[in-house]
Amino acid sequence: MAIIAYKCPDCQVTVVDINPERIDAWNSNELPVYEPGLDKIVKKTRGKNLFFAKDIEKQIKENDIIFVSVNTPTKTFGTGAGMAADLQYWEKTARQILENSQSSKIVIEKSTLPVKTALAMEKILNSAKGKIRFDVLSNPEFLAEGTAVEDLENPDRVLIGSHETRSGLKARQELLDIYSKWVPKEKIITSNIWSAELSKLVANAFLAQRVSSINSISALCEKTDADISEVAKAVGMDSRVGSKFLQAGIGFGGSCFKKDILNLVYLCSYYGLQEVADYWESVVKINEYQQDRFIANILCSMFNTLAGKKICILGVAFKANTGDTRESPAIYITRKLLAEHAEVIISDPKALKNAAADLAGMKGSVKYVEDPYRAASGCHALTILTDWDLYRKLDFRKIYKSMVKPAFLFDGRNIIDHKKCFALGFNVYPIGKPALSHFQTENNS
Ligand code: UGA
Repeated sequence: MAIIAYKCPDCQVTVVDINPERIDAWNSNELPVYEPGLDKIVKKTRGKNLFFAKDIEKQIKENDIIFVSVNTPTKTFGTGAGMAADLQYWEKTARQILENSQSSKIVIEKSTLPVKTALAMEKILNSAKGKIRFDVLSNPEFLAEGTAVEDLENPDRVLIGSHETRSGLKARQELLDIYSKWVPKEKIITSNIWSAELSKLVANAFLAQRVSSINSISALCEKTDADISEVAKAVGMDSRVGSKFLQAGIGFGGSCFKKDILNLVYLCSYYGLQEVADYWESVVKINEYQQDRFIANILCSMFNTLAGKKICILGVAFKANTGDTRESPAIYITRKLLAEHAEVIISDPKALKNAAADLAGMKGSVKYVEDPYRAASGCHALTILTDWDLYRKLDFRKIYKSMVKPAFLFDGRNIIDHKKCFALGFNVYPIGKPALSHFQTENNS
């Protein structure tokens, strides 16, 4: 919404939320999310044509276009628990729009939703047969965290799903006019509503599938002395495959991939397509396997006991350039390390607050130390779990000196110079590459 306000000075954009503290934070100098470049855009537009407000009902009344971006977590109860999307907030919003509208509106589905959700929205909105018309569009969002501003300014595509009726096409044109203020026309594509909804789930499923594919091969590399970086490079240079999203690591995290795939799995099962459901579910299973493999490797390399050992975690965000820890592999790995009675010291430039909230109430010793050198000092092992650039540039000589010997280094993101760290004295365990160990007798297979 900040980018729309920034690119379309003629539009007035108001963001509302049921959480008043969140709105206060958006109105303050410290925005509630860390996203490179966003604060600048918000500062330029806030109070001019971008507003953050608490009076949801009044804003529904006053605005012509409503983007619905409420959360759609995985259902934790009843039919489809653990898989299907929980649509209660979505439905409440539809009813709230209906109750408070006094003029016709375009309602845009922005949250990622199962196919045919817009239909339910439409049914609710058009249940009161009156003069007010509601046109529902699907306009899924493809931005990634950490690069949101860049992705929004130069999107690969903007997708607008609508009905092909006269009023559906008119509503589609209104949204198209907004995006075409800065997005080239050929990058704005249109489809029917269901295709737009499904495309979003499938785009995330394909991206996650690439990560699971490369991670599954990293396990094979570790058994065969092949090197996953070399394999990924050779495979990715085929222009039909492409080089992006082939970075092996500890698995994907974030609020979307797992949730969206499980949603897709649920939809396929619902329509009786069990083979298709199983195929996509295996993407999530490989992701869990990769994280379990990483922990098993730590345990096995450190003589099968972690009790009382200090393990430093460098990076707890689910990826670089964000403070978000939702579904972060680092949180899962921390829980497992605590279960082994290890003492965990977590470092991260942006995500410590979220990590502390995620791990609140966990039994065991967890400390949060922002400075990576202080965090690593006195530890038995160092694990790199987020691909923050700053970890590539650390002085590993200084870190090695401050650690308990033998010092272990588990690079869960393959971002540092393994040979150099080995030469400094570390026992180095990358992903999908042979371990570099100073223990003569160790069988790295
Ligand atoms: C993802 C999609 O990339 C966006 O297009 C989509 O709009 C968004 O979900 C969403 O549905 O909201 P995001 O979750 O922010 O974006 O982050 P990604 O860059 O896709 O990374 C996801 C996870 O995969 C991260 O944990 C990342 O470290 C991991 N990853 C990514 C790898 O392990 N290897 C790779 O090669 C790429």
